[in-house]
Amino acid sequence: MSEPVAIESVLSETRVFPPPPEFAAAAHVKSFDEYEQMYAESMRDIPAFWEKQAGELEWFEKWHTVLEWNEPFAKWFVGGKINISHNCLDRHLTTWRRNKAAFIWEGEPGEQRTLTYLQLHREVCRFANVLKKLGVTAGDRVALYMPLVPELAIAMLACARIGATHTIIFGGFSADAIRDRVNDGGCKLIVTADGAFRRGTEVRLKDAVDEAVKQTPTVENVVVYRRTGSKVAMQPGRDHWWHEIIETVDAVCPAVPLDSEHPLYILYTSGTTGKPKGILHTTGGYLTQAAFTTKMVFDLRDEDVYWCTADIGWVTGHSYVVYGPLANGATVVMYEGAPNFPGFDRFWDIIERHRVTIFYTAPTAIRAFIKWGEEHPLKHDLSSLRLLGTVGEPINPEAWMWYREVIGKGRCPIVDTWWQTETGSIMISPLPGATPAVPGTATRPLPGVMVDVVKKDGTKCEPNEGGYLVVKHPWPSMLRTLWGDDERYKEAYWSEIAGHYFAGDGARRDERGYFWIMGRVDDVINVSGHRLGTAEIESALVSHEAVAEAAVVGRPDELKGQAIAAFVTLEGGRTGGDELKETLRAHVQKEIGALAKPDDIRFTDALPKTRSGKIMRRLLRELASSGVVAGDVTTLEDFSVLEKLREDEE
Ligand code: PRX
Repeated sequence: MSEPVAIESVLSETRVFPPPPEFAAAAHVKSFDEYEQMYAESMRDIPAFWEKQAGELEWFEKWHTVLEWNEPFAKWFVGGKINISHNCLDRHLTTWRRNKAAFIWEGEPGEQRTLTYLQLHREVCRFANVLKKLGVTAGDRVALYMPLVPELAIAMLACARIGATHTIIFGGFSADAIRDRVNDGGCKLIVTADGAFRRGTEVRLKDAVDEAVKQTPTVENVVVYRRTGSKVAMQPGRDHWWHEIIETVDAVCPAVPLDSEHPLYILYTSGTTGKPKGILHTTGGYLTQAAFTTKMVFDLRDEDVYWCTADIGWVTGHSYVVYGPLANGATVVMYEGAPNFPGFDRFWDIIERHRVTIFYTAPTAIRAFIKWGEEHPLKHDLSSLRLLGTVGEPINPEAWMWYREVIGKGRCPIVDTWWQTETGSIMISPLPGATPAVPGTATRPLPGVMVDVVKKDGTKCEPNEGGYLVVKHPWPSMLRTLWGDDERYKEAYWSEIAGHYFAGDGARRDERGYFWIMGRVDDVINVSGHRLGTAEIESALVSHEAVAEAAVVGRPDELKGQAIAAFVTLEGGRTGGDELKETLRAHVQKEIGALAKPDDIRFTDALPKTRSGKIMRRLLRELASSGVVAGDVTTLEDFSVLEKLREDEE
């Protein structure tokens, strides 16, 4: 039986911000009509649309078939031969861009390095020769566990150059996490560093690798980049200093022509339960969509100084720090450390000094900036900025407005980009010169992307009726499978809604056709038979001036099925109390109605988050329901937050 209503929507937002005329006039896509035409045309023949985009890259051999679709397994540009490292580097060397800055890197302690395309190419070729020297060949897996230094990108591009498949393990993960990922991927080599700088202290990476490799039988060699200069144990025969071994090879290394479907990388993402999932991305289709979306969504041009603040250890860093921007010949800013080191204005200082024009960050970071106070950005000249972006979570309209006014000075369009590790590239987003923006919505799908909001039985939802966000046609940068586990791939993404890709998000589409992400369907709260998404209630809470951040979860309630429990952090200097609780309950009632009024409100200094900044509502749900947390907490960023919440509970 189908559910008549999947998720009810309670939020309404009426502010509309059309692209500034000067921006639109110079943009790649200049009007909403132009976007709509482009979109409609792409839907008439999706493979033909992507075939045209693939033609923007350099192929060693052309494909014979654009798409082979054997649900749920896709192959794009079959028969084509391509190399991503060639497209990100060599291709620019025959143009004026050879001496253009590819990376402008800043270390947390303050060092600066600039690598031109020519210099980057040379380093990539040398490191690719190191990989070969250590016996790595096409198809082998290489784990990268590194700080955010150019050498991480160099190692990625070196793997891609010879057809080795990389798997990046975020530098904040523990030895156990390394071990599990390396074993699942069967990695032959680990590239790491002595340590990383984070908030002025050293995170010791090599120690964690030493611990992990005790139980990783496939690892033959470890290359260690010297970053912090601290003392590390080096096992002769197995461990090699980057700066030593690189001196033993030359700088000539042709890029290998690879099948379009050659595995480029595996990136592990935590499922809601159990073993991490090894998302597999391949070559030709992935780069086609990563490059196309970088150009269109960020309206990228050669003069831009582009900064995506994501760590390369997340998919955002793969697609929008390294592969997408370099394929477009962009100048990319890379910053190693924390946003609040040594002061709360570090990001704004970087923007001012490097004259950053495009800035792409996460809502969780924006909420932290708001909490720290607007005096920090106001101290700096941010006039170089022309475009802002967000990714990773629904952005609540209040944070969106702050971003627009305080950072963008009301001048810069904002692109709210929806996508996932699994989608590989941005799927839903405004085009900044074309799409009128509304705070809180990722707006419309990009050309070539067929998404919809449906009920459990696959039928279309009415406007503003919340349901399941699905993709209805294969897209080039989609995950191909879960590494070594086709069954789990089918089960995780293709079994819930017949015939469609579904990966967990609830959404509604408004009368303009704009998509509003309502949160993960696993987090939906069922109050007296009404299914409410978490994002809208949280948004209402955050729209109160005292609130910095909020997470809501359901807890069992005899009467209503579920009651709403809200965990709230306050703006700097504010203290909570019963009076404020009542004020907030009344505020939510006023904003969205009595149904969504939280039953419990708890003030806390911080919310439990994953290392990529997502609120872990599952833990809060357990806490609100039973007072204990029994589930897996390995992806939690800061254990003390949970401890503190537990203590408050007692
Ligand atoms: O729930 C959606 C949320 O982040 C999920 C994907 O997370 P991950 O694979 O870690 O990739 C993050 C970077 C792409 C989605 O299923 N999400 C991501 N972007 C948005 C978002 N939710 C709302 N609005 C967004 N713009």
